Amino acid sequence: MRVAFIAAECEPWAKTGGLGDVVDALARALGQVGGSQAAGAELDGLDGLDGLVDVFIPRYRSVPVPDGARAVALSIPDPLAAGRTLDLQLLIAETHGYRLHLVDYPAAFDREGMYGTPTTDHPDNAWRFGLLCRAALEHLRHGDRPPDVIHIHDWHAVPALLHREGALGADPAIGRAAFILTVHNLAYHGWTPVARVPELGLGAIGKADGIDLLLAGIQGAELVNTVSPGFAAEALGPDMGMGLDPALRARGDRFFGILNGLDTDLWDPATDPALAAPYSRADRSGKAACRTALLEEIGLDPTDARPVLAMVGRLDRQKGFDLLAEAAPALLDLGLRLAVLGTGNYEVVAPLRAVAESAAGAGRIALMERFDRDLARRLYAGADGVLMPSRFEPCGTGQMVGLRYGTPPIVHATGGLRDTVIDVDAHPATGTGFAFESATAAALVDACARFLTRFTARGPAWEALLHRGMAVDFDWRTASAPDYLAAYQRAIALRQSGA
Ligand code: GLC
Repeated sequence: MRVAFIAAECEPWAKTGGLGDVVDALARALGQVGGSQAAGAELDGLDGLDGLVDVFIPRYRSVPVPDGARAVALSIPDPLAAGRTLDLQLLIAETHGYRLHLVDYPAAFDREGMYGTPTTDHPDNAWRFGLLCRAALEHLRHGDRPPDVIHIHDWHAVPALLHREGALGADPAIGRAAFILTVHNLAYHGWTPVARVPELGLGAIGKADGIDLLLAGIQGAELVNTVSPGFAAEALGPDMGMGLDPALRARGDRFFGILNGLDTDLWDPATDPALAAPYSRADRSGKAACRTALLEEIGLDPTDARPVLAMVGRLDRQKGFDLLAEAAPALLDLGLRLAVLGTGNYEVVAPLRAVAESAAGAGRIALMERFDRDLARRLYAGADGVLMPSRFEPCGTGQMVGLRYGTPPIVHATGGLRDTVIDVDAHPATGTGFAFESATAAALVDACARFLTRFTARGPAWEALLHRGMAVDFDWRTASAPDYLAAYQRAIALRQSGA
């Protein structure tokens, strides 16, 4: 099989969230498990991968171009001027275990912000991501071996599928390709109002008022998945379906969940260069040094034994950040401390900032409003617990990192969080963290109180909890990447049969 990815993000070149981690780690893992040599028993009956995965992302202003990248000139039809072409280039490098293609067109991508400014989306995003897709297809169809599978991630890559459904479908190299759409975030649809639809270069598509690109992808791809079985089930209902639940239900068994993995080479406290000291499941002694160094770095007293709960990520309502702000005074009353890292909108952050600046919060809440890869790693290692009170969470990465770093997660039992964290009070022999059922500040406080009780008691039960968490195998190569290979094969068969 020849597989190409089209996506808006891929770490370390471009990332705002979990999408970037997943595109990078899955592409690499497929290269590792997909080769017929390495296939192993669990891949019995599956075709291997032919060569590396081809990954296409925009060359945003912030993207570091890898050393040795070669430039390939490319012309694509200008969506806004019939008969004219746009000249752009691809920067191509084999790196990180896949073949990276940066679509380089400064007018679209050399500007501030990947999706927009802090206050608003770029108004021409349909044009920008349409160009990404068209450039990827143009390169693929002129290559020596056409792709068998085009794996599109979120709404940004859906124009590629619409091209196959349109005129480009007559091109044998594109027409034969099977499409699989992975929905990482069902909340972002790529709604394109009718005035902007021509920018896609696809003619008059969609409804009278415009096109919902994610919906079009859900309807048209051979297979559609999301990033955990738990969220796949929730998304079928109106509460979590974000208006797309009828379309998802209509796909029957062609919509399903594959749990994300974790890149266990990139996320390993034994080798993580950002940490003050290495540690492992067998020898956790370095974790104390990580805690001391972290607390000194962020201005919390390292000699204070009271636990520090960390929250890392986009500071928005999806992530339950407002719940944390509401719960913060009660958490301080319990004797907990908080360390929060991320960027977000001012209204969501303001209430927590107010608590942090109050007499009760001074010295006990560290609020860091920025994006800092290395500090995130030090938080996962040096904190005592990881908070993820997300309202909805297709999968989530922080809870998996927390488990692997011996820092128990406290999560709202939703989507991928429910699939990956076992509540230790409900399941004392197998639990790995703390899960609460309703997305309320009171339920969050209650779960943190349960954390505190166990943390304070310490002893063998606490040790066993950490050990179980650190032992969970989230490696992409174990289950997730083989599941994607199986899905690719199924998508190819569906395409070939015309079903
Ligand atoms: C999105 C989802 C998150 C998921 C990530 C990667 O960011 O919100 O739950 O882990 O995509 O799939």
